[in-house]
Amino acid sequence: MKRNSIIISATIIMAIVIAACQTQTDQGIESRWAGETVQGAIQSIENQIGGFDQTMIETNYRYNELYWAGQDENWGFAEYQLDEMLGSLEKGFVRRPERQASSAQFVDQAAPRLMQAIESGDKEAFVESFRRFASSCNTCHTMEDVAFIQVTIPEIRTSLVRF
Ligand code: HEC
Repeated sequence: MKRNSIIISATIIMAIVIAACQTQTDQGIESRWAGETVQGAIQSIENQIGGFDQTMIETNYRYNELYWAGQDENWGFAEYQLDEMLGSLEKGFVRRPERQASSAQFVDQAAPRLMQAIESGDKEAFVESFRRFASSCNTCHTMEDVAFIQVTIPEIRTSLVRF
């Protein structure tokens, strides 16, 4: 289960509960960690969910899993990880729309090329596409003024999933 989906679902449920409380108590809500007004609570929940860094922490996790899935020729898991990564990026752009333009070369070119290699079950093509994929992550980092974040091809296996 994706952590972000859980957080977002929880946020929606909380927003509904808060809205329900608001009609009953006329603007005030019971004092909880999130805050005492609807506006304050929304602000505080947004801060807790975080910005694009959270998206990137998830991206980085999936990037690793995806690489080792390819090494194992576990194509189902590789496809799953790439799909989830793109889904997570989309949610990230809802929170930080100004980041989206720089990702076009990644989303429209590098990712589909890698998906093609995964679908063909060709390990050599995967290795080659993954190299371009990694470099596309870094292109976006440069475009977004975080060129100090340079991802490389994983060398040490951290994935616990084995095929
Ligand atoms: C929108 C373009 C974009 C793409 C595509 C992108 N990144 Fe990022 N990445 C960023 C930005 C912007 C940050 C800095 C986050 C912040 O300041 O909120 C970042 C931060 C990171 C971080 C540091 C996160 C932290 O806070 O510790 C890692 C690791 C990372 N990216 C990995 C990747 C990997 C791996 C890929 C490719 C699979 C990738 N990124 C693709 C824009 C991108």
